Amino acid sequence: MTTDAKGRLDVIGEEIEDTKIASGLQVMNHVRSRRSIREFTGGKIPDEHIELILEAARYAPSPENMLMIRLIVIRDDQDTKEFLADIAQENARTVFGSAPFELTSGRNWYIEDEFRAAVFSRLREGELFRYPERSDTVIIVCASPAWHDATKLYPNELFGSVVAGMAVQNMWMVASAMGYGCGYEALICSDSRHTQLFRDILGIPPIWTPLTAFCVGIPISKRHLGPSRPPLEGIMYDERWGKPYERIAFRKKE
Ligand SMILES: Cc1cc2nc3c(=O)[nH]c(=O)nc-3n(C[C@H](O)[C@H](O)[C@H](O)COP(=O)(O)O)c2cc1C
Repeated sequence: MTTDAKGRLDVIGEEIEDTKIASGLQVMNHVRSRRSIREFTGGKIPDEHIELILEAARYAPSPENMLMIRLIVIRDDQDTKEFLADIAQENARTVFGSAPFELTSGRNWYIEDEFRAAVFSRLREGELFRYPERSDTVIIVCASPAWHDATKLYPNELFGSVVAGMAVQNMWMVASAMGYGCGYEALICSDSRHTQLFRDILGIPPIWTPLTAFCVGIPISKRHLGPSRPPLEGIMYDERWGKPYERIAFRKKE
């Protein structure tokens, strides 16, 4: 094994470098093909698999490695899963109940024409969001803006949510690579009166904020397509705000 000029190990020549790029591309494929899954069979996932997915959350980076998140793992309590499904459906009705078909059908370009109206109706009725009840595991992810070893708030109150996001993404990547489906159900938190109801049931103290019911289950079918992302030019700037980033493929050759 050799080291490079900066003393880094693992730089063993081009062949290995190529292998590393190839594994980077493989990770990228997982990133690209991860989807939100909202239809589960209701089947069981082995405990060891769920624990591996939970383990991924532990590896989220966090300020001073404080991991200011707490995850409530609900597997057996079907009543609570159904209650969360009720809340999600009711909030979805409020959010999407009056959404015009035209507004959502463009976003849902990947759904075949013959099914699009039915999906729209499930969206508007909120039925699409009842998936906690068919998930194997519902993980209530809670974040906190507080230091737990001092009576202080983090200077950036969003830190807790950032860490929660990283933990969720870690779990999502591992679960989808294993062939399981995940859905990020934030609708349970979109009305504080509903949130208070399940806070009471689950015993979540006021200092902790539940962000999502992250659902893991066996997907009814594999979804390859999903909502399009804007191109790089749509969300990246080049060196300064406002100067669009230009993809290599679009740059003029010198
Ligand atoms: C912060 C956040 C909130 C979300 N809220 C919900 C939600 O309440 N219900 C839901 O079904 N999906 C929710 N999603 C999933 C998004 O709708 C989904 O990621 C997006 O449409 C892109 O689709 P994809 O995940 O299949 O690529 C949420 C995702 C994030 C990151």
